[in-house]
Amino acid sequence: MSTGSPIVIRPERAGDKPAIRRLLDAAFAGPEEGQLVERLHANADLVLSLVALDGERIVGYVAWPRLWIETPRDEYKGIALAPLAVDPAQQRRGIGSALTREGLTQLRALGESIVFVLGDTVYYRRFGFSVEAASGYLSTYAGAHFMALRLNEAAPSSGRVRYPTAFDAG
Ligand SMILES: CC(C)(COP(=O)(O)OP(=O)(O)OC[C@H]1O[C@@H](n2cnc3c(N)ncnc32)[C@H](O)[C@@H]1OP(=O)(O)O)[C@@H](O)C(=O)NCCC(=O)NCCS
Repeated sequence: MSTGSPIVIRPERAGDKPAIRRLLDAAFAGPEEGQLVERLHANADLVLSLVALDGERIVGYVAWPRLWIETPRDEYKGIALAPLAVDPAQQRRGIGSALTREGLTQLRALGESIVFVLGDTVYYRRFGFSVEAASGYLSTYAGAHFMALRLNEAAPSSGRVRYPTAFDAG
């Protein structure tokens, strides 16, 4: 339930992990995404992670792990958006959108070049993600739900997208 307070977004802090795990388990109705985030933390793969607060309570979470784009000549940095979750009782209040927009703003400011996401195309289109922008890349996730959003021109327009190993162990 909402407290009626405005939603505040801030970076994840030490001590947030148990509440984030509970949120992920509830939003995804199972442990896989929570376990993924624990592996990402353990491997220091997260470039950014944000929580949404309703008062003191964590009601939303988004992680932005590092990934790599391999070309025959070089390896370039990219970002994954995964996972994004909002407390089931607080969905459709704009919290997921606010977390996504704030993350993209911060990643642009950090000079990050491209973000990939696997998800619902109708949902992620509103932030500028498209299947077309991801179509030049090879990936185990390539297909109708694999999208990208380019933030600057530094990343190559083709190559193999390699997610961190935390994604393999699910
Ligand atoms: C997907 C999720 C993060 C959206 O968060 P949210 O705070 O409810 O989303 P917002 O309030 O910002 O946006 C709501 C809009 O998204 C749409 N929407 C919400 N969830 C959606 C979904 N799973 N697929 C498609 N559209 C969705 C709503 O219809 C609404 O559209 P509108 O603005 O035109 O009315 C949330 O529903 C969630 O945690 N789901 C379970 C976990 C999950 O599936 N995560 C995404 C993994 S890719």
